[in-house]
Amino acid sequence: MKILVVGSGGREHALAWKLAQSERIQMVYVAPGNGGTARDARLVNVNITDLHELANFVEQEHIGLTVVGPETPLAGGIVNLFRARGLKVFGPTKEAAQLESSKDFAKAFMHRHGIPTARYQTFSDVAPAHAYIDAMGAPIVIKADGLAAGKGVVVAMTLEEAHRAVDDMLADNRFGDAGARIVIEEFLAGEEASFIVMCDGKNVLPLATSQDHKRLKDNDEGPNTGGMGAYSPAPIVTPAMHARVMREIINPTIAGMAKDGIQFTGFLYAGLMIDAAGNPRTLEFNCRMGDPETQPIMARLKTDLLGVMEHAVNGTLDAVELEWDRRTAVGVVLAAAGYPDAPLKGAVIDGIPAETAETVTFHAGTAEVGEQLQVTGGRVLCVVGLGDSIKMAQKQAYDVVDQIHFDGMQCRRDIGWRGLKH
Ligand code: AMP
Ligand code: GLY
Repeated sequence: MKILVVGSGGREHALAWKLAQSERIQMVYVAPGNGGTARDARLVNVNITDLHELANFVEQEHIGLTVVGPETPLAGGIVNLFRARGLKVFGPTKEAAQLESSKDFAKAFMHRHGIPTARYQTFSDVAPAHAYIDAMGAPIVIKADGLAAGKGVVVAMTLEEAHRAVDDMLADNRFGDAGARIVIEEFLAGEEASFIVMCDGKNVLPLATSQDHKRLKDNDEGPNTGGMGAYSPAPIVTPAMHARVMREIINPTIAGMAKDGIQFTGFLYAGLMIDAAGNPRTLEFNCRMGDPETQPIMARLKTDLLGVMEHAVNGTLDAVELEWDRRTAVGVVLAAAGYPDAPLKGAVIDGIPAETAETVTFHAGTAEVGEQLQVTGGRVLCVVGLGDSIKMAQKQAYDVVDQIHFDGMQCRRDIGWRGLKH
């Protein structure tokens, strides 16, 4: 069978890498892919991003199944379009993707269905937003309503920061349409975890747990990023916590969407905040896998992913039992100079070692330019190490990180540190 993975990041490289391990795979196309998917002999990059052209390509090549990585094509209706043309695709429809593409939709949805989350209000005018902030006090969180590539959230520790964020988004239009409406919500303290499941419209299949490191610098300091590393499993998600999140968050979300007339298919990612008393609340939903969470998760998946995807598009996920490598996987992101504000492109990347049983390097913002591999985006690579403990997985990953070089490379040295505390 031929398969298409849509996207160009580390998440898509990891999904394509795992799919290509299936014995029944004839070809894995990645559209548009990156330097790593270009170099992998089992993968073929296709330089198409237009959704109609992608559907034409799938028809021409008789591709049996498409897996969509990023939120933008999902919010743009790729699943609706492919289904209307009779093509098998795994992902949420445009309507279901509103759980991610509109914070206001997600908050109103959670409120309506009693799903635990921070208290909030939505604003499109500046004056009432400022008044609400003064009434609530700091810390407080300001979010652009629409998709802003992970940059539309300001966790304001002071009133000044909060007011400035409102002006940036509503008055100065920093996020364009995405920021024409904002959600202002209660600050939640605690520890975050990523809880990702697959849904086929009826059945829910949880993936291995993981935890992302969003801040640029060690000890979770510095600006928020799309994610500087992730590891799996996340010990904060104990079996009891897992059961509780399924009962209080995931199942009510799938059921609530159905009640509202929207069948949810695809990956559902609940970003959790777990407070000191052990209560999980939903910070956000994503309607796709996490990046970089996918990289350590795929490194641990033993089950044939093609088979899982076939069950997912056929509505038979209840027949699947996932098998995981018992080791911990730690994924360390290597980011470009200037990331996250203004990543510098063009640096030449050297020293990526071949994959081993303990390590694999997934590409994101890379491209092949002649014989060279060059930096093309903010997050460049994600090095995954596997080990019997977090410490051993870290050692595997950082041994590889230390062999890789490009000018201005930034990375955290402490991915997995929260797990070590548990
Ligand atoms: P989001 O895109 O909504 O997940 O927000 C990005 C990041 O901002 C999250 O991963 C958290 O670190 C932080 N964040 C979002 N909402 C809140 C909140 N209500 N309280 C505290 N931190 C938050
Ligand atoms: N790692 C966070 C995200 O994928 O949104």
